[in-house]
Amino acid sequence: MRLSIAACLLAAAAVQRAVARPTPEAILEALARRQVEAEDGEEIDEMEPDIPELEEADEINNRMIGDLRQGATTPVGESIRNILLRTESAEGSNSRYTPPGGVNSAKCKADTCCVWHYVSIAMTAKFTGPTGRCNDWARAAIRLGFHDAGTWSSNLSANGQDFGGADGSIILSGTEINRKENNGLQNIAKQMTKWQKQFGVSMADLIQYGANHAVVTCPLGPRIRSFVGRKDSKAAAPENLLPSATASADSLISLFEDKTISGHELAALLGAHSTSKQRFFDPSRANAPQDGTPGVWDIRYYNQTLESVGVPKRVLRIPSDVVLAQHPSMSNEWTKFRMPNGVGQKHWNEDYAEAYTRLSLLGVNNINSLTECTKTLPRPRPDFKGALTLFIDG
Ligand code: HEM
Ligand SMILES: *[C@@H]1O[C@H](CO)[C@@H](O)[C@H](O)[C@H]1NC(C)=O
Ligand SMILES: *[C@@H]1O[C@H](CO)[C@@H](O)[C@H](O)[C@H]1NC(C)=O
Repeated sequence: MRLSIAACLLAAAAVQRAVARPTPEAILEALARRQVEAEDGEEIDEMEPDIPELEEADEINNRMIGDLRQGATTPVGESIRNILLRTESAEGSNSRYTPPGGVNSAKCKADTCCVWHYVSIAMTAKFTGPTGRCNDWARAAIRLGFHDAGTWSSNLSANGQDFGGADGSIILSGTEINRKENNGLQNIAKQMTKWQKQFGVSMADLIQYGANHAVVTCPLGPRIRSFVGRKDSKAAAPENLLPSATASADSLISLFEDKTISGHELAALLGAHSTSKQRFFDPSRANAPQDGTPGVWDIRYYNQTLESVGVPKRVLRIPSDVVLAQHPSMSNEWTKFRMPNGVGQKHWNEDYAEAYTRLSLLGVNNINSLTECTKTLPRPRPDFKGALTLFIDG
């Protein structure tokens, strides 16, 4: 029965985002009620919830992470909890930020977000190509964020190994970066080290801020709410927690489930391959992108992993993407992300922002004391001209 609940929570049922959202308490109550019914041995129809709140809750992953498991005790903790429960948007507004002074001024040092304004200027210059698309530095920064944060496991953590995760160790350990799965991330790691010295921020934050910055640097990418205050660690993360491109869909889904990431969330996260290129999976086709527009944060990837005709020759489809796209716990969502006229794009951007917020906080046990600095990120560019032009990636 517990499996059935999990399957149910993972099931990608439709979200009626237009209607007023239930409060986190209502969702948790409804989920608890369902749990009781399940334990009583009642059959639960996974796709057709009988509890109104669960129409939405069915696709909401209510697993909490870090110190949020003991509760949200601050406004920022509450916000992050609400983002994870989908009662608050994970995309920032278009707010602007004016720094109170130069990067070395006392006024700047007194404002946590100020230094990030200057980090952002440096990242914009590095991550944007000559045609306004996002470039190789940006894709590497997105992957670096995943490979630092993704090394956290709830299984291991329950067995006394609560380390790894978004702690900067991919760079600070000095060894993680040499692991095979991190091939191709060495240059961005060097760049992050330079920035870390220049700006004096935490490496863990710099890496996650960089991943979010790179996403919004890509045309059509969301402005994901960004939090700082993570703790750095030099301890190398546990091994074998990052996914293999040739693994089965089921094993990948359980690998992510162990990170508290649901199938629905994984479907959204994989869209990062909309801007990716591979170099080491098949070196004979180095720099082959995973969709026809690697410089743009668009939904083409979702189409091109599923379609067998009309996929440009240069596109290399990673086997795990192909099997996951067809898996029953993903295909519902995958199909929705493909919807035309901006519908799929909007849905995916919202879902990616939520799922990445979760990923970027794995292993972080001081979520209640973080500070939100979204306002220092560039603003999104949803109307980028030329978003449909194939293969231009500069
Ligand atoms: C089942 C899960 C995943 C698998 C098996 C996978 C596998 C891969 C592989 C094989 C590459 C090419 C590496 C190379 O040969 O150079 C790649 C690139 C990339 N991946 Fe993933 N990935 C997964 C999930 C993710 C997630 C969750 C994200 C981010 C949220 C992500 C972001 C990227 C990016 C941005 C690149 C391009 C890096 C670059 O161009 O420098 N991936 N991935
Ligand atoms: C986590 O533990 C469960 C139950 O023991 C097991 O089925 C699953 O494979 C484990 N996942 C990982 C990624 O270790
Ligand atoms: C992607 O697939 C959807 C659903 O089949 C379709 O409506 C849309 O036009 C496709 N988009 C592109 C760019 O091929």
